[in-house]
Amino acid sequence: MQAAEPQAILTPITEAAIFLTVTVDAGAEGAVAELLPDLGGLRRSVGFRVPEAGLTCVVGIGAGLWDRLFGEPRPAGLHPFRELRGARHTAPSTPGDLFFHIRATRLDLCFELAQLLAARLPAGARVVDEVHGFKSFDERDLLGFVDGTENPEGMAASAAVVIEGDDPAFAGGSYLIVQRYLHDLASWNELSVEEQEAAFGRTKLDDVEFPDERKAPDSHLVLNTIVDEDGEEQQIMRFNMPFGRVGAGEFGTYYAAYARTPAVIEQMLENMFLGSGAASHDRILDFSTALTGCLFFVPSLDFLDDPSVAAAAPVPEAVPDSGDGSLGIGGLRDG
Ligand code: HEM
Repeated sequence: MQAAEPQAILTPITEAAIFLTVTVDAGAEGAVAELLPDLGGLRRSVGFRVPEAGLTCVVGIGAGLWDRLFGEPRPAGLHPFRELRGARHTAPSTPGDLFFHIRATRLDLCFELAQLLAARLPAGARVVDEVHGFKSFDERDLLGFVDGTENPEGMAASAAVVIEGDDPAFAGGSYLIVQRYLHDLASWNELSVEEQEAAFGRTKLDDVEFPDERKAPDSHLVLNTIVDEDGEEQQIMRFNMPFGRVGAGEFGTYYAAYARTPAVIEQMLENMFLGSGAASHDRILDFSTALTGCLFFVPSLDFLDDPSVAAAAPVPEAVPDSGDGSLGIGGLRDG
């Protein structure tokens, strides 16, 4: 059996990205289901003409829409984003049924594809959040720190994000958690560089991790280093992008992280917002506010092309015989 092919999750950080969050009203599911297998073709329509720009588009499906489209079985980790209400800071859960993560070395190609996608959305499906991100020089976020250094590489990256035997019916899939953060840059810039470095646990100029004994308990690095019971570090892939509008004083980070189970990212979020050990919350949250929060399942390419065949294929024995010759998975639900 050939392994299901993941979507282009592991695209290296690009110069540009567009993040589109879409809601789908009752009644629009059928048209959305017809759009999913066409996504590859739409991407090729734009990307084939400028191959060197590496245009990719990853689509995610939220828990509510999944149930309305496909029902059972559902990916093991799929559920709505859970709001986290800490003593000082909240990670809100906001609407999102479909998500498009569009990336290329050129924003014009991302924009063209976003336009084509938006034109294909049926009445009742609408873009509720849209962020155009850019890569800042030195890979820095707008807080001035290099962002993405500790992402896993090579096989470790794929092991961190791609579902395999842990949920065989959805092998080749992944999970995506996104949050739109706005920074209070004025307050942040009142801190000394040493105070900013303490908030992250890394040096600012040359991006070197502090030795463990120098890391503050509420630093971003301490709260986001998660190990399992064997002491092995649990990894995720982050594709954060800066965005903003200088005239409006808007400076943000669009946080987008993939993992083979949402539990790892959720543990990090709990540490950041609810605290862990001696920390009541992540210090960077005193300067960065989460305005959105969504969780999506990212199916394999095979699933997108044909949900009824692809999801059923790897584990036919796990699917009860419906008696009608179908494998009982992934079909569009009636009504
Ligand atoms: C305002 C939003 C955020 C900003 C600006 C930000 C920025 C950064 C920076 C600059 C680093 C150090 C360099 C590196 O990428 O390895 C980092 C590390 C990291 N961040 Fe964030 N981050 C944000 C939100 C989050 C959230 C919400 C999570 C998880 C739910 C997260 C998880 C991580 C992880 C896992 C690391 C690597 C830790 C390590 O292994 O050293 N970040 N982040």
